[in-house]
Amino acid sequence: MTAAPATRHFLRDDDITPAEQREILDLAERLKTDRFQVRPLEGPQTVAVIFDKSSTRTRVSFAVGIADLGGQPLIISTASSQLGGKETPSDTARVLERMVSAIVWRTYGQAGLEEMAAGTTVPVINALSDDFHPCQLLADLLTIREHKGSLEGLTVAFIGDGADNMVHSYLLAGATAGMHVRVGCPAEYSPKDAVIADADRIAAETGGSITIFTDPLETVAGADVVVTDTWVSMGKEEEKAARVATLARYRVDDEMMSLAKPDAIFLHCLPADRGYEVTAEVIDGPQSVIWDESENRLHAQKALLVWLLERSTGGSGAGS
Ligand code: CP
Ligand code: NVA
Repeated sequence: MTAAPATRHFLRDDDITPAEQREILDLAERLKTDRFQVRPLEGPQTVAVIFDKSSTRTRVSFAVGIADLGGQPLIISTASSQLGGKETPSDTARVLERMVSAIVWRTYGQAGLEEMAAGTTVPVINALSDDFHPCQLLADLLTIREHKGSLEGLTVAFIGDGADNMVHSYLLAGATAGMHVRVGCPAEYSPKDAVIADADRIAAETGGSITIFTDPLETVAGADVVVTDTWVSMGKEEEKAARVATLARYRVDDEMMSLAKPDAIFLHCLPADRGYEVTAEVIDGPQSVIWDESENRLHAQKALLVWLLERSTGGSGAGS
């Protein structure tokens, strides 16, 4: 007897192979043309969506996406649950898997997500942690592909806080897509060495590359895609003054954009602090594709859910 394949989770961008990433993006593209064509959660089955941190896009796109797939979202705020207080991630997962088909969790440490995934038979999805934001990257890649036709060989320049969850996800997901990922950041806010090493290894297989710069203008030169994110991620509010002082020369403005390719596009996962990491002229200007990017959260996450549910071994919620 062959053992059933293990349930797949999506905790980091490199939890999927290059072929699997393409498969999910292709499905997202199809679901964007006809939102209600697949209904794997018909029943309705429930998906738990848990938030330790604030959210607009993630909350709405998962809630709407789960409903589009025939299911019902159960949005849980950690502050009003036992998780994070009296109960461990693995005990929480054991309870939820008897009633839900998947668990989506926005949290702080990556370790909690790993513990939750190790303890359950239903897919666990990282809806943002301190280290990664892989659902956002599926939406970003979908957006870039829509505007540029393909991903492989494109140069993406991320400017700003290099220790940010978005940067780590760009390194892994961009490398997986065969892109040339450049990060322009101050030495104090550099990506984690372990993530750079993982991204380098993936890039060596896909034909992509990873380069870390301290000069933002050098980073952006000739880029196809320019990306930034807030300088003050959730949980880092007390560091705001120091961050703003150190990151001041990493603001994306018209002058910086003029060094990228003339047809370069600008992305930002939002929420944005206009006047800090990006000027209003750029984020609200003709090269910005932020509203497509934010809509694509819906289509990308639906594709991810469909793909993971097909690979789930269970939880009674999945079959009932
Ligand atoms: N981009 C993103 O994840 O937005 P929210 O924090 O509003 O979910
Ligand atoms: N880096 C930001 C992303 C917000 C969607 C944060 O973690 O707050």
